[in-house]
Amino acid sequence: MSGHILAIDQGTTSTRAIVFGPDRAVAGTGQQEFPQHYPHPGWVEHDPADLWRTTVETVKAALAAARVEVDEIAAIGITNQRETTLVWDKATGTPVYPAIVWQDRRTAELCDRLKAEGAEPAFSAKTGLLLDPYFSGTKIAWILEHVDGARARAEAGELAFGTVDSWLIWNLTGGRVHATDATNAARTLVYDIRTGDWDDELLKLLGIPRAMLPEVKDCAADFGATDPALFGRPIPIFGVAGDQQAATVGQACFEPGMLKSTYGTGCFAVLNTGDAFVTSNNRLLTTIAYRLDGRTTYALEGSIFVAGAAVQWLRDGLKLIDKADSTGAMAAAADPEQDVYLVPAFTGLGAPWWDPDARAAIFGMTRNTGPNEFARAALEAVCYQTADLVDAMHGDWASGDAGGETILRVDGGMVASDWTMQRLADILDAPVDRPVIRETTALGAAWLAGRQAGLWPDEAGFAASWRRDRRFEPDLGDEARRRKLAGWRDAVARTRVR
Ligand code: G3P
Repeated sequence: MSGHILAIDQGTTSTRAIVFGPDRAVAGTGQQEFPQHYPHPGWVEHDPADLWRTTVETVKAALAAARVEVDEIAAIGITNQRETTLVWDKATGTPVYPAIVWQDRRTAELCDRLKAEGAEPAFSAKTGLLLDPYFSGTKIAWILEHVDGARARAEAGELAFGTVDSWLIWNLTGGRVHATDATNAARTLVYDIRTGDWDDELLKLLGIPRAMLPEVKDCAADFGATDPALFGRPIPIFGVAGDQQAATVGQACFEPGMLKSTYGTGCFAVLNTGDAFVTSNNRLLTTIAYRLDGRTTYALEGSIFVAGAAVQWLRDGLKLIDKADSTGAMAAAADPEQDVYLVPAFTGLGAPWWDPDARAAIFGMTRNTGPNEFARAALEAVCYQTADLVDAMHGDWASGDAGGETILRVDGGMVASDWTMQRLADILDAPVDRPVIRETTALGAAWLAGRQAGLWPDEAGFAASWRRDRRFEPDLGDEARRRKLAGWRDAVARTRVR
């Protein structure tokens, strides 16, 4: 057996598998997109069979691309789109309903009702989250309420709930293991992140039987081994973390005060707060960054629902551009005299506004506004939203960085755009560091599995190997920055409903 590690990254729009060699470099990759289902406005579903099928196929593709045999894989690390909710029959493994995706807003009314009943403080104090449809808890409640017979079967212990990691672990192990890790559990709205246990009061508020829930393990732990029938021999599953948390470890943000931001469909900024459960006054989430050797490291998180998705909208919706990566050049060519703002609230606004009913708007257009100004507005929206999150983090955790400099480590598809990263540094008025290895999420999952297998170094050793590709230094005058931010905040204020 040689020391390759296989990372599975099951994301919102595609599934990826990446083989890392013993030198920790990418040896081979497999990737597949799968269909998104929008049965009603505001609803987003995935077919659980697609999540599983693309996992198996991309694993095989990655092994072939890396030219390694199964017995050269020492361990698997899993990372996944978080909050997406599945419920299946424990005896047959058959899902009772499609996966309800994190973006799905169908439980907004239930959240409103619980808030009106005064339940939000109990959820926030224990889970660090807010009552928003984003999280799994109200999605589980919806399935139990709307699928015929589901509640009775759940109460009889016949049904299992899982986030996508649990669904994959269940299938990979041939139905032998029903488990999750602390970071995924932390997104369910029913897991007390201070005590590290499912919480009976919250379960009762949502009507979820405990018997449905998976066992919660550390991020680096023994999650069982793959069924030999799948890949020819069993492979141990040694690492699991939600994708934003995996990116946090992949960026080696192990010290309190370290901050990363990942730009995919949405944008998720995570600030390591060490042992401290920091309660946000700015409607950020308190969550688990990772749990290793039984020790929890906490984080503040800002979640924005639309980042790269705004560029996709320019391409697929408006058909203003052919390729996503042409937006940087278009933005650079945009008219500097025009202040055009896009508030991309296509599925409501996330942190720090949490306004599920807000809808996207564009402000400041003149007769001269064209595709270039739209492209710049879409890319700048990502920068402004990051600035809102970082500001909120500073407000909540001023003591944490002791007045030190904020440095943002970035990853995800959009960071390939130099223009966007420069504008991000300008708007933040802080340096932005882009790593050499941009497969940060998969790297984080691989590190968890490699660490558990005893093949990859511990936190300090791994952090020492983190390398920067480029630092973007801020280069915009204070006045221009303030003017732009004021314009953005005015645009957001005009878009909000709540
Ligand atoms: O919280 C949702 C997040 O985990 C989804 O990430 O990269 O699949 O869009 P991504």
